Amino acid sequence: MILGLLKESGDETRVALLPELVKELVAAKVEVLTEKLAGEKAFATDADYEASGAKIASRQDIFVRAEVLLQIQAPTDSDLALIKKTQIWISVFNPLWETALVEAFLKKGLTTFSLDSIPRSSRAQAMDILSSMATVAGYKAVLEAALRLPTFFPMFMTAAGTIRPANVLILGAGVAGLQAIATARRLGAQVQVFDVRSAVKEEVMSLGGKFVEVEGAVEDKAAGGYAVEQTDDFKKKQQEVIDQHAAKANVIICTAQIPGRKAPVLIHKKTVESMKPGSIIIDLAASSGGNCELSENDKTIVHNGVTIIGQSNYPSQMSVDASRMFGKNAFNFLKLIIGEEGALNLNFDDDIVKGTCITHEGKVLNERVKSVVTKTDGVKTESTATKEMENKTEKENKKI
Ligand code: NAI
Repeated sequence: MILGLLKESGDETRVALLPELVKELVAAKVEVLTEKLAGEKAFATDADYEASGAKIASRQDIFVRAEVLLQIQAPTDSDLALIKKTQIWISVFNPLWETALVEAFLKKGLTTFSLDSIPRSSRAQAMDILSSMATVAGYKAVLEAALRLPTFFPMFMTAAGTIRPANVLILGAGVAGLQAIATARRLGAQVQVFDVRSAVKEEVMSLGGKFVEVEGAVEDKAAGGYAVEQTDDFKKKQQEVIDQHAAKANVIICTAQIPGRKAPVLIHKKTVESMKPGSIIIDLAASSGGNCELSENDKTIVHNGVTIIGQSNYPSQMSVDASRMFGKNAFNFLKLIIGEEGALNLNFDDDIVKGTCITHEGKVLNERVKSVVTKTDGVKTESTATKEMENKTEKENKKI
């Protein structure tokens, strides 16, 4: 198999594989073509890749020669113009939202894998890119809040008086939330945590957070550890509790999500207005609408003295370890499609290969993506499918 490792564009600093893993692929008889300067922003030089057995090539050459193209970002229009039907595209392209892109893949008959669709099973844990990147985001979000906060995180007893520790409220105790709790506690803050899944209470407490309980949450074991929609009565009670805690918080880290849906709005404008000026809200869910009504994706705004940060790519602020984690997950996935003597082997009987595959031979393979984009009697038009998704997520969000 010939693997093409592509260079990311724009502000992205990560690279999908660091040289240490290229070496392992080469040992498995995979030919690796690395785009010139692919690892530059993650401090991996072309010479490092060459020393690991890769060949340095131009983007055009890689599109001509590689059987599998690997990049973190989704392809651009110019990539789509270059890519051939026989090639396989592997990246992270958020297919539940980016339906227009899925339709473009269908039209071209491409085989595509989106690494954010890897099933969350124990066998797939070593490939779970979402968890790895959420770990980075939870950590970085707290550090950014600590840097911007005009007060200390830890308690200080000094000759100049006693300084109270910061109050940090964390909404959602999934992977990002748990990492945010651990980081905020390490810095000495008092941490309150809210989640609709009571199963996370023990984990929150073991990290030193205080779990804020609201009785009556709907939980569903069949949801595979994810949250489900809540009743109106619960939402009302939940909102009152969140509002009370938000008013006392110096920092709020928002991480609440139900995958594939618009993020639930938990911090309303009036709640922001009840917060102390100088407080910070970091909304990790900003790219899917945000947990704070005022969040804007990839923007920082100030409302009534409260800074609201909608940074959607914290992993890019930690290029080396984020690339290391991403690469290890991607490498573990690649191992599933490498057969004997390094040959490409697509085994769709493997649930991870099938679940991660978005399009193949003009069909959508991933079941959840299928429900958003269907191609039974022709491809839906871009506008229809996108509109359907928006309507669906709007409706679902109202129920959360
Ligand atoms: P996750 O699915 O592991 O955790 C989300 C948590 O939110 C779950 O524990 C769930 O029970 C909880 N939740 C859902 N609805 C809730 C509600 N109404 N109230 C309270 N809790 C609720 O997700 P993960 O991996 O921790 O990611 C969290 C967010 O961070 C996602 O929106 C993800 O897209 C985002 N993210 C952002 C990054 C960035 O750089 N900004 C990087 C990586 C992830």
